[in-house]
Amino acid sequence: MQEFHFPTWVNKFTLLVIGTGLAVAGYLATCLFAATHPEIINVGHRPKQPVPFSHKLHAGQLKMDCRYCHNTVERAGHAAVPPAATCGNCHGGNRTTGEFVDGAWQAGRDLGVVHPEKSTLEPIRLSLETDKSVLWERVHDLPDFVYFNHSVHIARGVSCVSCHGRIDQMEVVEQVKTLSMKWCLECHRNPVPHIRDPQMVTQLDMTWESPEVEEAYHKEWAEKLGVNPNVNCSTCHR
Ligand code: HEC
Ligand code: HEC
Ligand code: HEC
Ligand code: HEC
Ligand code: HEC
Repeated sequence: MQEFHFPTWVNKFTLLVIGTGLAVAGYLATCLFAATHPEIINVGHRPKQPVPFSHKLHAGQLKMDCRYCHNTVERAGHAAVPPAATCGNCHGGNRTTGEFVDGAWQAGRDLGVVHPEKSTLEPIRLSLETDKSVLWERVHDLPDFVYFNHSVHIARGVSCVSCHGRIDQMEVVEQVKTLSMKWCLECHRNPVPHIRDPQMVTQLDMTWESPEVEEAYHKEWAEKLGVNPNVNCSTCHR
């Protein structure tokens, strides 16, 4: 009986199979890398800022309301990052008399000028003198082809905490959600668990007695506000 030999073209074929296999594996690995790499989906993105500003101190310990600094969040699409003048209320040359009680400014106790000499606050002092803005690095940034609007969400009782997490506990702001289309749609399809009294959107530490009480609370506010988000493409791509 004659021995069976593979014809010589099979060698080339084997190489081709191995080559293609490697190429496919490489492609998949690249996709996986792109899909999970924090630089690309940006979860955990926390750029270095020109001033080591701490939300944990100002919003957490000092209990300053988010809107004291991000004062356009209820009215505009963008939640403006505050100008140096806002910081200057306490860190500038003028004495400030007052304190925050439950997030609201109460005149009275003399806070004095806080750290007028600290080197960490040099960019703020420089900005107050020259009128040039402090160059804060952006943390969250959607692609330009997506339309997003803060005020709509705030008016419908979606809390900052649903999208930004416990900012009041962060020393350095960090992106905690993917901001992907899937993430937006998940809530637009099932918004009720996120809806609360619009007055309470900046109370990031809000708690309820039990899960049942919480569920009933969200349902009540969703009905009261008539919340019904759109999922049409043109809602976010216009
Ligand atoms: C004393 C002023 C002040 C208060 C109060 C404050 N912030 Fe900020 N916030 C800033 C400044 C300054 C920045 C830019 C520097 C940084 O990212 O830390 C910022 C950045 C942010 C960012 C990231 C913006 C980006 O580039 O994507 C978010 C989100 C944010 N703040 C949410 C909140 C929330 C929620 C609260 C209330 C719990 C709050 N802030 C209270 C001053 C403030
Ligand atoms: C209502 C008053 C108030 C406002 C407004 C305010 N701060 Fe402060 N800030 C404080 C207080 C109080 C401290 C803590 C002082 C301490 O305990 O050492 C502080 C501490 C700091 C420190 C730490 C300084 C250090 O090196 O120890 C930085 C940095 C700072 N603030 C930046 C900012 C920036 C930037 C803004 C504006 C976006 C701002 N603050 C707005 C009251 C304020
Ligand atoms: C429904 C989700 C959602 C809620 C609720 C929300 N944010 Fe945002 N926030 C975002 C997204 C998404 C971006 C990025 C927007 C962009 O790139 O155009 C952002 C960006 C920001 C920025 C950077 C400036 C800007 O507008 O791009 C700040 C500051 C901020 N948010 C503060 C707040 C504060 C304070 C609250 C609560 C009062 C809040 N956000 C509530 C999703 C949300
Ligand atoms: C945690 C829940 C939640 C998340 C996350 C969320 N949304 Fe919304 N969105 C809502 C609610 C609630 C409304 C208000 C619906 C209404 O008016 O009844 C809304 C309304 C909107 C509107 C206004 C629609 C209109 O009819 O004018 C736009 C635009 C929008 N969202 C875009 C986005 C984008 C883009 C993202 C993701 C980056 C996002 N949303 C993430 C809950 C959410
Ligand atoms: C609630 C808001 C929202 C709605 C509704 C929405 N999109 Fe998007 N879409 C987004 C966001 C946010 C991104 C950016 C995602 C990112 O950067 O990863 C996006 C990205 C995209 C992209 C770019 C590719 C990708 O996946 O990143 C395409 C294409 C797209 N959307 C098509 C659509 C179509 C078609 C519809 C209607 C069936 C639709 N979108 C509805 C928010 C939305």
